[in-house]
Amino acid sequence: MKKVILTGDRPTGPLHLGHYVGSLENRKNLQDDPLYDPFIIIADIQALTDNYQEPARVRDNVAEVAKDYVAVGINPKKTTIFIQSMIPQIAELTVLFMNLVKHSRLLRNPTVKEEIRQKGYGDMVTAGFVNYPISQAADILFCKGEVVPVGKDQEPMIEQAREIARSFNNIYGEVFPEPDALLSTVSRLPGISGTEKMSKSLGNAIYLAEPTDSLKKKVDSMYTDPNHVRPEDPGKLEGNIPFIYLDAFDPDKAGLEALKANYVEGGVGDSQVKKRLFEVLETFISPIRKNRQGLDMVPDEVTKMLQDGTERALARAEMVMKEVRQVMKINYF
Ligand code: TRP
Repeated sequence: MKKVILTGDRPTGPLHLGHYVGSLENRKNLQDDPLYDPFIIIADIQALTDNYQEPARVRDNVAEVAKDYVAVGINPKKTTIFIQSMIPQIAELTVLFMNLVKHSRLLRNPTVKEEIRQKGYGDMVTAGFVNYPISQAADILFCKGEVVPVGKDQEPMIEQAREIARSFNNIYGEVFPEPDALLSTVSRLPGISGTEKMSKSLGNAIYLAEPTDSLKKKVDSMYTDPNHVRPEDPGKLEGNIPFIYLDAFDPDKAGLEALKANYVEGGVGDSQVKKRLFEVLETFISPIRKNRQGLDMVPDEVTKMLQDGTERALARAEMVMKEVRQVMKINYF
């Protein structure tokens, strides 16, 4: 049996380079491996946990995210791309899983804690938001997902899903695999201002279809070494954002190492580094931008693709839920 890979994103805006490095690249590479059966969830219900007052925003971004996937090379024939809210079995499984998780455990989840802090929720955090790791476990387990390609910030979610699978299996019998996170080799990409990870809500992201002129502006505004004022000054690489991006995207590794050595010694201006980075990113982004524009012209095809994927996911969901209802003795008729 092929192993199910499941991962996904919240549709709250276009995807950015951080998504690419953190997970999209892994997804793209794995879809051609005959050992795997890949699924991608567009997690609109999860997006609503912190955007419930703005349903139109979530709705509009579902197709945007789907187009980003296809534009970077995810093939909807090989990868089942589907919409979370269209699979009611995920909601059902979430409710059943809620009994298996202590409330205090949810509040200890470091990713959720950090998000509560960033969004300033404090005590006013909703039950839906605190609960989203359980719903994410259902996202993974409804199709018996075993491999979850994600960025490092999602590790606590996968750990939570493992605990839930284990606890379910102990009480009701072996139904679920314990999913493993598949982390990308590149550690998380910082935003252009260098203080936090790349994120749309922090306004520090470069998008996968970023237009050329704003790409140029964003690269030019990147945080470098504040003590490296003139080109001849020796510079520091740590925390130097253009170099972090070059590490992730520059295919000419030898050239990059030479540039780094030069920079550290003194003799390379920030503008030279940024020029190289702009060229590297423009080369990376321009085919994606072009694919994206093509997809914008065919909205019906995008809808059809999502419908097909969702139907495939539904079939899987119903199979697994039959098993779940049976072992939980909630199969009456
Ligand atoms: N929480 C993930 C994020 O914010 C998105 C997501 C939802 C997800 N469901 C998932 C990731 C299931 C992996 C598996 O990026």
